[in-house]
Amino acid sequence: MRISVGLQQSPEHERTINWTANTGDNMKIYLPQTRMPEAGLIFVALVLAAVMPAVSESQAGRDSGGTSGAAQRPDYETYGEAGATKMQKVAQGRQSVYSELADYLVRLFELSEKPGIGIDIGGGPGDLIVHLVKRTSQFYWINTDINTWCARPFAKNTLKENIAHRTGFVFADVCALPFRDNYADVVVSRGSYQFWPDLERGLSEILRVLNSGGLAFIGRGVAPTMPEAQVRKLAKAGRIGGPKYDPDTDAERFRNLMRKLGIQQFEVIRHKPEDPDLNYGVWLYMRKP
Ligand SMILES: C[S@@+](CC[C@H](N)C(=O)[O-])C[C@H]1O[C@@H](n2cnc3c(N)ncnc32)[C@H](O)[C@@H]1O
Repeated sequence: MRISVGLQQSPEHERTINWTANTGDNMKIYLPQTRMPEAGLIFVALVLAAVMPAVSESQAGRDSGGTSGAAQRPDYETYGEAGATKMQKVAQGRQSVYSELADYLVRLFELSEKPGIGIDIGGGPGDLIVHLVKRTSQFYWINTDINTWCARPFAKNTLKENIAHRTGFVFADVCALPFRDNYADVVVSRGSYQFWPDLERGLSEILRVLNSGGLAFIGRGVAPTMPEAQVRKLAKAGRIGGPKYDPDTDAERFRNLMRKLGIQQFEVIRHKPEDPDLNYGVWLYMRKP
């Protein structure tokens, strides 16, 4: 743990303590000017004694291999009820995207009979999970999202499908996942990474919570196996696509980050269809060593 404490003269001729713990927090304490320097130093010691335990506890959480720190309060203006409702409506119109992706993932990861824990990051109302549960008899699936309002449509969906007992919803920011190290066997994420404030941090968090040999599939778009006619129909109806982006740029970002994070077993999937106007998106498939 790095703590630096410095005494300075502030412009108002008051003393300032710059406190920097490894969280990057910077706390300034202004001391009234006193003719007794010792009194000032005693005050400093008292302040430090008061704040030290809090810092040590958060540090202990990190050192013990627990979760990656306290969750940040989300910006509810951005991640509110309206966003969750809109997402739910959009998702309803493209169920074939989730069912095809679930088929593809269950085959790729051989999940149909295996026991384990799977997490969807930024799963929204959880349509992908609903399709995954139906194809995996022994898996428990956790839908996570930074938008707490997604919990309601997710609960409704899972109760309707009679799979609520095999699922959970957890509020989570990908950059500070509330799971212990080596918790999950599989992590999936569709259409979310482009919103993460720090892609590297998100991927490191996913690697932290995956167990050794665990698999992740993160990206946007549709499964490479989806028939072109179906993708065309969905794109024409405006049910997939959205704002234009360059999947090759994102593919390169994924490759660079895998190298930076020291992951050797990975593949970046950029399916190129016969029809060059169709965009299948980009997927990162990785295995934790
Ligand atoms: C376009 S939606 C995709 C939802 C779903 N995965 C799907 O494919 O239909 C993106 C989701 O990512 C979530 N999200 C955005 N930033 C996030 C973050 N930092 N951590 C976790 N989820 C996030 C949003 O709240 C939203 O539900």
